[in-house]
Amino acid sequence: MPYLNEKEKLGQYLAEKLALEAGHIVSLLEIPSDPRMGDLALPCFKLAGQLRKSPAAIAESIAAACRQEDFPEIEKIEAVKGYVNIQFQFSYRASLLFQAILEQGERFGSSTNGEGKTIVLDYSSPNIAKPFSVGHLRSTVIGHAVANLLAYQGYRCVRVNHLGDWGTQFGKLIVAFHLWGGEVDLDGESPIKALLELYVRFHKVAEEDPSLEDQAREWFRRLENGDSEAVEIWARFKSLSLKEFERMYHRLGVHFDSYDGEAFYNDKMTAVIDRLQASGLLVESRGARIVDLEPYGLTPLLIQRSDDASLYATRDLAAAYYRWETFHFHKNLYFVATQQNEHFRQIFKTLELLGEPWAGDCEHVAFGLISFAEGTMSTRKGKVIFLEDVLDQAVERVDRIIAEKNPDLKNRSEIAEQVGVGAIRFYDLSRRRIKDWAFDWDRILNFDGETGPYVMYSYARLRSILRKGRDKGLAPSPAIEDIDFAALDNPEARDLIRVLEGFESHLQRAADQHEPSILAQTLVDIADQSNRFYNAHHVLVEEPEIASTRLLLVACVATLLKIGLNLLGLSAPEEM
Ligand code: ARG
Repeated sequence: MPYLNEKEKLGQYLAEKLALEAGHIVSLLEIPSDPRMGDLALPCFKLAGQLRKSPAAIAESIAAACRQEDFPEIEKIEAVKGYVNIQFQFSYRASLLFQAILEQGERFGSSTNGEGKTIVLDYSSPNIAKPFSVGHLRSTVIGHAVANLLAYQGYRCVRVNHLGDWGTQFGKLIVAFHLWGGEVDLDGESPIKALLELYVRFHKVAEEDPSLEDQAREWFRRLENGDSEAVEIWARFKSLSLKEFERMYHRLGVHFDSYDGEAFYNDKMTAVIDRLQASGLLVESRGARIVDLEPYGLTPLLIQRSDDASLYATRDLAAAYYRWETFHFHKNLYFVATQQNEHFRQIFKTLELLGEPWAGDCEHVAFGLISFAEGTMSTRKGKVIFLEDVLDQAVERVDRIIAEKNPDLKNRSEIAEQVGVGAIRFYDLSRRRIKDWAFDWDRILNFDGETGPYVMYSYARLRSILRKGRDKGLAPSPAIEDIDFAALDNPEARDLIRVLEGFESHLQRAADQHEPSILAQTLVDIADQSNRFYNAHHVLVEEPEIASTRLLLVACVATLLKIGLNLLGLSAPEEM
C-alpha cells in the first residue's frame, strides 16, 4: 500500500496533537482489518497509562483536534471505541499508487528485505530413470514460483535440483538391463519410457524369482564402491534421463543453479556417519545402523543397511551439511509432497540432535497430492501418467478453444502452448499448496473461472485497449498532475484501486509464507475488478483527459498482472 509510506507524516501530525513523541505514534498506526473503518487507525489503548485517560477519551480528543486545513489529504477522521480511524482522500491514495507504479514499472512491489541473505530451494528433484510424475510437477512449479517471489524480495536464491540418481533402484535397473536391455529402445524419443519398461519387468519377474533382488543389491553395492561397469551403465541412464527432463524444464521455463543430486553425496556420507558416531547417536539395530528417534515420537532413521548400503536419508543429511557449509543459508527449503513429512521431521530432528544451530532454518515446504480420475499411480506397476502427455493435451484443448474464439489470431500455436501450459501451472498454484486437488480439465481451462487462461485473457484485453488507444492518438496520462480524478470517481474504479493497493503486501506474504496461491488469488481479484471496471465505464471516450486517466489505470493494472504472471512462471500474452 503505497500510502503506508506516508505513515511518518501522519504520525507526526497526530503526535503534535498529543504532545507525544512521533516515533511511538508511527509504530502504533495500523491498517484496519475492515477497510470501511478507514485506511489507517491509531489504537489508543497503549497510550492510556501515560496520558491518564481512557482510550475512548484520547481517541475523541485527537479526532476533535485535527483540522482539515492542516492535513488536506485526510478525508475523514473519526473516534470509534478507542481507535482513531483515518480515511484519506481517494485522489491522494490513487496518486501515490500511480506514482509508485510509474516510477518502479515492472519492478513494482520488489524490495530489498532479503538483501545479503541466501535461501537454498530444493525443488523438482525427480528420480532418474523414472517418469517425471505429477508430484514432481507440483514441486517444480511451486518451487520455481517461490524462488521468483523470494528473489523479488532481494534474497539470493540457490535453486537446487536434488536428483534422485542414487539408490537400490539402480541395482535393479542394471540387472534388468543385463537381462533385457537389447529388447528396449534406449536411444529413441523417450528413453525414460524404455527404462520404465525395464523397471516394471524387473518387479514382475522378481515376484517369482526373489534372487533378482539379491542381484540388484549386489549391483548397487558395486556402484557405491565405484565398480567401473556399474558406474558406466548408471552414467548412461542418468544422461539419457536428464536429456528428457531438460526438455520438460525448457518447456516450463524452469532453470536450476545446481543439479547436484543424491549421487553427488556418495563421497560425503562417511563424514556424516562419523559425526553421528562421535555424538553417540548411531546405534546398531539388527545389523543395520540407525538413529533412535522414539523419544521424539518419530520412527528410527535408517542410516546404513546391514550390507553397508547408504540410504535416501543418509544422503539428505550429507546434503544439508554441504548446503550449510557452502552457502551459510538463511533458509534451506525442501519442496516435497506431504508423503515425506516423516522423513523431513526425522532429518531435521537428527540435525538438531547433532547440535547444529541451523537445523531450525531447514524447512519442509509440503504440498498435497493431485488425483486423477484414473486412480492412484504406481511406478512399479508401470501405472503412471506422463506429464508430457498432460501438457500436450492442455495445449491441444486450448488450441481448439482459441480456434473458436479468435480464429484469426496470429502465432496461434505459440499462444496455445503458453496458455495451455500456463493453465495447468496456474491451477496448481492457485489453491493452498497443502490441499489435495483432483484433476479436472473443465475447471483448469475455464476462460471465465479462477484460472490462468482467465487472468491471461484479462491481461491481453487490457493490452488491446492500450493499442487501440494508441491508434486513436490516446495515451495513458504521463504524470500525476495530468490525472483527472473525477474520471475514476466511481465504485468500480475505487474497488479496482483498492485491490491494486494490496498487491505489494500480498507479494510479500506469498514470499514469506512460501505460498504462491496468495499471489494467484490476488491476480484473479485484480482481473475480476478490472473486468468490472471496463464493463461499466468506457475507456476510449471522446474527452482526452478522461481517456488518458482511465488508460493510465488500465496500464497500471496490466503492469501488475504481468509482474504477477511472470513471478508465477507464466507468460503474459499480448493477444489471445
Ligand atoms: N527424489 C525425491 C522423490 O522423488 C525427492 C527429493 C526431494 N529432495 C530431497 N532433498 N529429499 O521423492
